[in-house]
Amino acid sequence: MATTPSAPASMPGATLEHEGKSVTLPLLTGTEGETGIDIQALRARTGLVTFDPGYGNSGSCRSSVTFIDGERGILRYRGYQIEELAEKSSFLEVAWLLLHGELPTQAELDGFATEITHHTLLHESFRRFFEALPKDAHPMPVCAAAVAALATFYQESETDRSLHDAIVRLLAKTPTIAAYSYKHSIGQPFMYPDNRLDYASNFLYLMFATPAEAYAVDPVLAKAVDLLLILHADHEQNCSTSTVRMVGSSRANLFASISAGISALWGPLHGGANQQVVEMLERIEADGGDVQKFVDRAKDKKDNSRLMGFGHRVYKNYDPRAAILKKSCAQVLNQLGVRSRLLEIAMKLEEIALRDEYFIQHKLYPNVDFYSGIIYRALGIPVNMFTVMFTIGRMPGWIAQWVEMRRDPETRIARPRQIYVGPTQRAYVPIAARRSG
Ligand code: ACO
Repeated sequence: MATTPSAPASMPGATLEHEGKSVTLPLLTGTEGETGIDIQALRARTGLVTFDPGYGNSGSCRSSVTFIDGERGILRYRGYQIEELAEKSSFLEVAWLLLHGELPTQAELDGFATEITHHTLLHESFRRFFEALPKDAHPMPVCAAAVAALATFYQESETDRSLHDAIVRLLAKTPTIAAYSYKHSIGQPFMYPDNRLDYASNFLYLMFATPAEAYAVDPVLAKAVDLLLILHADHEQNCSTSTVRMVGSSRANLFASISAGISALWGPLHGGANQQVVEMLERIEADGGDVQKFVDRAKDKKDNSRLMGFGHRVYKNYDPRAAILKKSCAQVLNQLGVRSRLLEIAMKLEEIALRDEYFIQHKLYPNVDFYSGIIYRALGIPVNMFTVMFTIGRMPGWIAQWVEMRRDPETRIARPRQIYVGPTQRAYVPIAARRSG
């Protein structure tokens, strides 16, 4: 497991003037040169708190897992460029890198893959868990509930060994849980994992095989799934990862923390956007393919539609994952011999938006979700499973961030302050004297 991030060099300080007093707060600088003001002593020294809804300006931790430079469109896991990892690594190699901080040797990777492969089965009584849920349930809450339920099967107290086992189980069982949530929704029997298959191929087998006939995994599909998982594997302190860290900061166990992260990911402004993108493209297609009309609606402040798959809190440039996916999307569709009207609409939409003054001014570019849904659809993944695919990919990142948080001596229970704007103290009104409205 990677070690706790080391303290960055400290710099002279930033001075804050308030009510005639001046306070100098220390500055911290990270290994990539970004600088933060350390406000840990702010309230004690001044009585002030900061106000930063959405945490757009607040660093919540020191982390050595992932680096993003949103202005320059850079994403690196443990120092390695996403473009290089996408081209040269497998998902399990990337998962090891995120967890351990270094790329694995061949022996380490083989051992890791074997261990993961041998933990993909779910406890037999877990099958009844799925049966208790409605058939039309969205697979995301099913996955969140199932991952939380893993804590009921594995209730060991936290030691290095039990944490290791929990990590392996989560990585191994998430694809099984994901595929079972789908099988349950379409009324097909659950398949047992096939230990001869690699991670991505086994997932496709669990999703699409039936006991009635032989199913051969198409290597083009398996490669595309593996790439998508790599691109989703971590993204520093985003909404779901911060949720995982926040829940874990109360010393909740790994399964409970990750389950909360899955729920956070489901939202349409976060991982749920990939489903929204395809639904948006389908609406444009059904509406006659008038892309300009949709772009105009997305700019109109009176209309609450947004261009889904566009914009990002951190990237103010092209999301490097979207660039990789755009290329891969065309390649995969070509290899599969599929012509996609949705891809044509997406490319047209991107072209129009990138030339549009509103999108230029607001620095809105395609994000990872813009092209991923089109590939998922070409692979035969149902639309409501798109965010579940994201969940499988993000698992190693969530785990690496959770472990880093738990090992960091600076971690305290996450507990933000607020600026209270409700009523000040007032006299209690007896019920008989209360008036409605
Ligand atoms: N379409 C049209 N306008 C947009 C879009 C969009 N997709 N995204 C942002 N804007 C506009 C906002 O209306 C706002 O305009 P204003 O300043 O004139 O009022 C401005 O750009 C800033 O937008 P915010 O919502 O304040 O930016 P924030 O950083 O809070 O939100 C977010 C980022 C949620 C990703 C946003 O861009 C969005 O809703 N995008 C669409 C959903 C999406 O694709 N989400 C996936 C993100 S990637 C991921 O989580 C995996």
